[in-house]
Amino acid sequence: MALRVAVIGSGPAGIYTAEALVKQSAEDVRVDVLERLPTPYGLVRYGVAPDHTSIKSIANYLRRVLELPEVRFLGGVTLGTDLSVDDLLGHYDAVVYCTGAMVDRKLGIPGEDLPGSVAATDFVNWYCGHPDVDPGRFTLDTSEIAVIGVGNVAVDVVRVLAKTADDLRSTDVPHDVLQRLAESEVKAIHMVGRRGPEHAKFTLKELRELGDLANADVCVRPDEAVVLGGDFPRQVQGNIKVLQSWAAREPIGRPRRLDVRFWLRPVEILGTERVEGLKLERTRLSEEGRVVGTGEFETLPVGMVLRSVGYQSVPLPGVPFSERTMTVPNEAGRVRDREYVAGWLKRGPTGVIGTNKSDAAETVRTLLADLEGRERGASEPIDTLLAERGVRPVTYEEWLAIEAAEAELARSLGRGERVKLVGLEAMLRACRV
Ligand SMILES: Cc1cc2nc3c(=O)[nH]c(=O)nc-3n(C[C@H](O)[C@H](O)[C@H](O)COP(=O)(O)OP(=O)(O)OC[C@H]3O[C@@H](n4cnc5c(N)ncnc54)[C@H](O)[C@@H]3O)c2cc1C
Ligand SMILES: NC(=O)c1ccc[n+]([C@@H]2O[C@H](COP(=O)([O-])OP(=O)(O)OC[C@H]3O[C@@H](n4cnc5c(N)ncnc54)[C@H](OP(=O)(O)O)[C@@H]3O)[C@@H](O)[C@H]2O)c1
Repeated sequence: MALRVAVIGSGPAGIYTAEALVKQSAEDVRVDVLERLPTPYGLVRYGVAPDHTSIKSIANYLRRVLELPEVRFLGGVTLGTDLSVDDLLGHYDAVVYCTGAMVDRKLGIPGEDLPGSVAATDFVNWYCGHPDVDPGRFTLDTSEIAVIGVGNVAVDVVRVLAKTADDLRSTDVPHDVLQRLAESEVKAIHMVGRRGPEHAKFTLKELRELGDLANADVCVRPDEAVVLGGDFPRQVQGNIKVLQSWAAREPIGRPRRLDVRFWLRPVEILGTERVEGLKLERTRLSEEGRVVGTGEFETLPVGMVLRSVGYQSVPLPGVPFSERTMTVPNEAGRVRDREYVAGWLKRGPTGVIGTNKSDAAETVRTLLADLEGRERGASEPIDTLLAERGVRPVTYEEWLAIEAAEAELARSLGRGERVKLVGLEAMLRACRV
C-alpha cells in the first residue's frame, strides 16, 4: 500500500514538500496538496510583485511538481472549515502543514485602525488580485503616503506606488486595480526605517531597482545616510553605498518623489475620520542595542500609511501553536505523531522562495524516518468525505482552465501574458461550465 500524505497549502513550502516526498521516498507515495484557494502557488501568485516576472516564473518549476503522477492538487479545500485534523489523520498516513503567514504584524500605536492606515498584507493582496480583497478597496486619492518598514515587502509596495500604471500594463495586475493605479494622485512616498541604513532588511538588488525608477526621484538625507563603524556583511555594505550615493543626488523633477528615511519610529497615526498625518520620533540605539526614542518628533502630512512591518502566521484549529514565536513548535519539522510542518508556518516569515526547498526537505526526511517500517493505516481517499460535505475540490485541470481564462483576458485587453481574474466566482465560472 502506498504511503499517503496530505500537504496543507500549495505555496512554495507545500509544493517543495510534495516534491521531496516523491524524490526521497523509497516506497510508493501518494501526495494530496490541499489548498483553500482554487489556485496554487501561494505567495508566488499572491505576494511576489507583478513586475518581478522572472521570480514569478518559479511557478513553472512548481507546476511540474503538481503534474507528477504521484501528486494531486485539490483547490478550494480549507483545513479548519472543510476538514479537521482528525479527518486528515483518518485518511492519510501523515499530514504536513504549510499554510504560511497570512496576516500583518501590528504596530501597537494610536491611530493604527483609522481608515487609510493599511496593512501591507492587504495592499499586496489588492495589487496581486487575491480573492480576499475587493479590487475597489483602495483609491490612491492622496498626494503623500508613508510606508513603515524597510524590508523587501516595503520596497515592493513603494515600487508599485512609484511606477506609472503604464509601467505595470504588461503585468498580471487585475484590470480594475490597474485603473486605480492610473488614477493615483500620489506625488510623494516616504519609506521609513526605525533604525539606520546598516540595519535595513531589504536586499541590494531590490534596493538598486528603486534608484532606476524612471518616474520617481529617490532622495536620502545626508545626515540619515551616515553610518558609524564598518565591517558589515557585503550586502549591507552594498546597501550603505547605494543609499549614500542617493544622498549625494539632487532630485531632477520626476513626477514622483521617494524619500527613504532612517532613525524614525512611528508613534501615532493622526486623524479623526481618516489618516491625516504620521507622527514620528527620532531614534537611536541604546547601549544594549535597543531602539529608543530621543524625544524629538516630526510629522509627515500623509493621507495614507502602509504598515509593512512583517507577516505572521495564524493558528490552525487543532494544531499546536506558539503565541511567542507565532509558529508551530516542531523538531526538524515534526509537530506530533504523523503531523509535520514546513515553510513560513514552521520557521516564521523570513527567507526567499528557495529557502523553503531545503526547509521542506528537512521536514520530509524527518517524516520518512518516523514512518519507516510502520503499518500504513490510511485506506479511503478523502474524496468521499469531501463529497458528503458538499465540497467539490478544484482539480489541477480546472486550475489550468483558470490560467487559460487569464491569458484570454490579457489578449482581449491588449495586455501582457495574463491578467488575474479576481474573486472566487469569476475563477469558478472560468473553470466550470
Ligand atoms: C509580499 C511578498 C513578496 C515576496 N516576494 C518574494 C520574491 O520576490 N522573491 C522571493 O524569493 N521571495 C519572496 N517572498 C517570500 C516568499 O513568498 C515566501 O518565502 C514563501 O511564499 C513562503 O512559502 P509558504 O509555502 O510557507 O507560504 P505561502 O506562499 O503563503 O503559501 C501558503 C499557502 O497555504 C494556503 N492556506 C492557508 N491557510 C490554509 C488552510 N487553512 N487550508 C488550506 N490552505 C491554506 C494559502 O492560501 C497559500 O496558498 C515574498 C513574500 C511576500 C510576503
Ligand atoms: N524580492 C524578494 O526577494 C522579496 C520580496 C518581498 C519579500 N521577501 C522576503 O519576505 C520576507 C518578509 O519580508 P518583510 O519585508 O515583510 O519583512 P522583514 O524583512 O522582516 O522587514 C520588516 C521591516 O519592518 C520593520 N519593523 C518591524 N516592526 C516595526 C515597528 N514596530 N516599527 C517600525 N518598523 C518595524 C523592521 O525593522 P527592524 O529591522 O528594526 O525590526 C524591518 O525594516 C523577508 O525574508 C523578505 O526578504 C523577499
